[in-house]
Amino acid sequence: MASQPDVMDKLVSLCKRRGFIFQSSEIYGGTGSVWDYGPLGVELKKNIKDRWWNAMVRSRDDIEGLDAAILMHPRTWEASGHVAGFVDPLVDCKTCKGRFRADKLEDARCPQKPSKQPGQHDACQLTEARNFNLMFKTYMGALEESASIVYLRPETAQGIFVNFLNVQQSMRQKVPFGIAQIGKAFRNEITPGNFIFRTREFEQMEMQFFVEPGTDMEWFEQWKQLRMEWHLALGLSPERLQFHQHGAGELAHYARAAFDVTFDFGGTLGFQEIEGVHNRGDFDLTQHQQFSSKKLEYYDQLNNKRYVPYVIETSVGADRVTLAALVNAYREESVEGEDEGRVVLGLHPSIAPIKAAIFPLTKKDGQPEMAKGILSDLRMAFPMDYDESGSIGKRYRRQDEVGTPFCITVDGQSTTDQTVTVRDRDTLAQDRIDASQLKSYLAAKLVG
Ligand code: GAP
Repeated sequence: MASQPDVMDKLVSLCKRRGFIFQSSEIYGGTGSVWDYGPLGVELKKNIKDRWWNAMVRSRDDIEGLDAAILMHPRTWEASGHVAGFVDPLVDCKTCKGRFRADKLEDARCPQKPSKQPGQHDACQLTEARNFNLMFKTYMGALEESASIVYLRPETAQGIFVNFLNVQQSMRQKVPFGIAQIGKAFRNEITPGNFIFRTREFEQMEMQFFVEPGTDMEWFEQWKQLRMEWHLALGLSPERLQFHQHGAGELAHYARAAFDVTFDFGGTLGFQEIEGVHNRGDFDLTQHQQFSSKKLEYYDQLNNKRYVPYVIETSVGADRVTLAALVNAYREESVEGEDEGRVVLGLHPSIAPIKAAIFPLTKKDGQPEMAKGILSDLRMAFPMDYDESGSIGKRYRRQDEVGTPFCITVDGQSTTDQTVTVRDRDTLAQDRIDASQLKSYLAAKLVG
């Protein structure tokens, strides 16, 4: 039984209506499982990425940032195992022309009616399974020939591995230390879907932590806990978060041990991976040494020894966490004394796209002028919105629906004593404060 309600359809509609997320190339009928972030979505995702960057890079001396290119030398993907192993087994149906994952047939539905699993209609003609590589290919340079094939990276991690010594030496880092980056990744997924949960173009936030062999499991445990704490601090509900340990049959080709952080998306989707924490051992550095013929060893000066470090990886999807934050935040509730209920995105204030909205109660008596003055004072410090149209109740509802934590109202009293009311999105409590105190009042409420 589903433990949490299914809010996905309502969210997809809210995200489009309120400028969070649009289908890519919608006017042409859309591009399959590719999405565009609108004005509010881009702020939300940026806030999530900033929180990750602050936690992983800015607040630590032992992690350095990187922004490696999407297009890498094609040998990279031979070394990493992606050319040979990043494949899904597929079957085609000669009757309906559908294409399905051979290992997920029980989750697939045949387009013929009544709805059944592929292969279960008399007319179904499924082919033998064959492997399909998920990497997108393109050509570098003017010649479209096999020698010029390059791939759009399917993970950002390899850009970190090939720069391991560049970063270590230029920044004079000592093992243990990490390299972090945020960037686009591309996978030609066969069964994408569930809105921005599984898409063909997405963003990863990955960190590779290089450690001395033998200390790896200790670091693995530490990173597992730290990453769970990060998701909790983002405001994801504890009851919606769980670890999932990979059994022997589930481990990726590079992994010695792996845990997923899973989030309960509700409905039939239920608990799904949002982040992977992997002990990759020395697989990647050793492979790159072999394929590039360049040493990727660390020299431990103190103990006068050389070794290829082991790697603990934390890998989280920026889009998947954005979806988790939206699902987690969505609620519908009735309001005492009002006929109409409200839809609220109870986003953690630090990731809300708009931090505060300012309203003049009426369009006269100097109220709009005072409200606009406050807006121009605050807008360089916080993303703000200004709204003077419709009843005050309607204006509150519009902000609740996009997760704005505070609404500031300029009323008749404001123009005489320079005070304003600040309404809290969640408690609905209103404080009357001096307009000159707004910046520090909001800053104190928005930390964390
Ligand atoms: N470097 C390791 C790696 O890429 P992964 O488990 O394949 O591991 C890590 O991916 C994270 O990237 C996932 O937990 C998920 O959040 C995100 N991710 C992977 N494929 C995705 C897709 N098709 N769409 C959106 N996010 C995806």
